[in-house]
Amino acid sequence: MQHKSKLPQVGTTIFSVMSALAKEHQAINLSQGFPNFESDKKLMDFVTKAMQSGYNQYAPMPGNTELLKAIANKYEKLYNTSYHPESEITVTAGATQAIYTIISAFVKADDEVIIFTPAYDCYEPAITIHNGKTIPIQLHAPSYCIDWDIVKSKISAKTKMIIINTPHNPSGTVLTKTDLLKLQELTANTDIIVLSDEVYEHIIFDNESHQSICLFPELKKRSFITASFGKTFHNTGWKMGYCCAPKDLMIEFRKVHQFNVFSVNHPMQKGLADYLQEPSRYLELSGFYQEKRDLFLELIKDSRFDFIPAKGTYFQVLDFSKITKENDVEFAKRLTKEHKIAAIPLSVFNENKKDDNMLRFCFAKTDETLKQAAEILNKI
Ligand SMILES: Cc1ncc(COP(=O)(O)O)c(C=O)c1O
Repeated sequence: MQHKSKLPQVGTTIFSVMSALAKEHQAINLSQGFPNFESDKKLMDFVTKAMQSGYNQYAPMPGNTELLKAIANKYEKLYNTSYHPESEITVTAGATQAIYTIISAFVKADDEVIIFTPAYDCYEPAITIHNGKTIPIQLHAPSYCIDWDIVKSKISAKTKMIIINTPHNPSGTVLTKTDLLKLQELTANTDIIVLSDEVYEHIIFDNESHQSICLFPELKKRSFITASFGKTFHNTGWKMGYCCAPKDLMIEFRKVHQFNVFSVNHPMQKGLADYLQEPSRYLELSGFYQEKRDLFLELIKDSRFDFIPAKGTYFQVLDFSKITKENDVEFAKRLTKEHKIAAIPLSVFNENKKDDNMLRFCFAKTDETLKQAAEILNKI
């Protein structure tokens, strides 16, 4: 039987490709974005305790009540804003599921969705599968800042949604208050939904503060925030996340969520609820990763790679223009095979595979791994 693919352009993600290549060649894997150290044992103990105390059947569809309250508390304390725990927050199987479900719930055939490339790779396929049209706006190395005049020229009556991501994967840049105000101005008096992917909200450096969409009341009214516990608590394999939005948007989200996922892992939700009672557990994350970024960059400062220090996330992009004329995919593969270090070529996130000679390295690694990686990079 012949099936016409709904996603003919989609192959295996670059993350799987590079991680498999790293494994095959026993290379240090700084490609895929996950820590190579363990989550806090205290959190694992809370989850174990939850399993032993009967949290083993379906959680309520929107999420465990204590976890929803803990998330609402976080927004209250950090951003002085409120999301009602019963009606405006839903716990999801990672941010990816939240993003897919938001797009499912709102994007109809021929609706336009503006994304900024380089973009995290789950946005576009979700838009395509719902017969929406992706309108990519290419950001340029090395600053990757948004030209709002271009955004203005792309907004039309067909624009259903704009997806932003700050701190930004893969570039490590962040949106400023001026950026968010500009977005607010450009979308004022429209029904455009903003999907604000804030999975790295707690990883922001040099005393900058995270510009959550919820800080901008006119935007908050029309926006979803997506978040990931995996990024915050070093357990990407748990695939736990959530989203927040005003009630009218969340009602539509839940219509899809309840028939797609219904509810997510209950003991982990209860464990996370207990763990979130102590805010230092996420507030100390920026300092923790800033030390790793600084260590990595200090170690490679004399290498032939150029860089602007990442402002957030656990990714650092390195410019290899002084090293080779190869395209970034070829260079990334050769680095893995010959030099035993794996990174992600940025062109895969770009419009028309634009190649700026940039590779993305994940520094969510032990200091020992970062030292080994730097030793290799200094010899290239
Ligand atoms: C920008 C961005 N959004 C969403 C996700 C997905 O998060 P999760 O693992 O919680 O699904 C990632 C993971 O790498 C990401 O980098």
